[in-house]
Amino acid sequence: MNQKTITTLHKMKSDGEKIVAITAYDASLAHVCENAGADLLLVGDSLGMVVQGHESTLPVTVDDMVYHTTCVSRVTRQALLVADMPFMGYATTDRALETAARLMKDGGAQMVKLEGGVPQLETVRYLTERGIPVCGHLGLTPQSVYQLGGYRVQGRDQDAATAMLEESVALQQAGAQLLVLECVPQTLATEISRNLQIPVIGIGAGPDTDGQVLVLYDVLGISVNRIPKFARDFMQTAGSVEDAVRAYVQAVRAGGFPGPEHSFE
Ligand code: KIV
Repeated sequence: MNQKTITTLHKMKSDGEKIVAITAYDASLAHVCENAGADLLLVGDSLGMVVQGHESTLPVTVDDMVYHTTCVSRVTRQALLVADMPFMGYATTDRALETAARLMKDGGAQMVKLEGGVPQLETVRYLTERGIPVCGHLGLTPQSVYQLGGYRVQGRDQDAATAMLEESVALQQAGAQLLVLECVPQTLATEISRNLQIPVIGIGAGPDTDGQVLVLYDVLGISVNRIPKFARDFMQTAGSVEDAVRAYVQAVRAGGFPGPEHSFE
């Protein structure tokens, strides 16, 4: 099978084919996820919580992200490999360039992801003008958990929804080629996905985004914390880790996941 690129994902959007993404932090599980058919592997800074045992993603360092991205990139052959820029790793445009360069040159990432809208537009433009593919991330942005007052659904009132819609367009105009939407009402996520040319990957954003992403450990039901409402433990009905990931991939492709019970109003 061929290497998936951002062009592949854009074509999947225009063909109405669901994109399946999942997090991976090490070689063996990255290999399993790829074999199970994932289109995109995200080395998420969620590793701070599910691998390192922190209460948030804030303590994750650039070195941590480069290390885990390297572990995953050594074995990734087909999936698009996206790495998170960690908290404070893109506090200025110069620092963002340095972090992104390390994730790509040392880590082997093919795209970097950063959280936020208006405050990140200059950075997104700066990186993309220098040949660095960028994925945006709106809605619940875990690096801002203390500013947001907790892990809560975002964009519920009209003003916040309008602002998110505008920010998504602004990110696309600044050069972002992909967007993650986390914990937003289903109707808003649908509107944003329809409105953008770039693919929108949802997590807790309902079934109508162009694709889905989940934290691997939630798919396997082994997270330290309670499994979030928007996730499903696919291990309950699977005979192996690879079967569980394959069941997730197939459920997304067939439109069977997420269901109403995993979505927000
Ligand atoms: O860090 C992460 O795993 C993420 C996903 C939850 C989208 O950003």
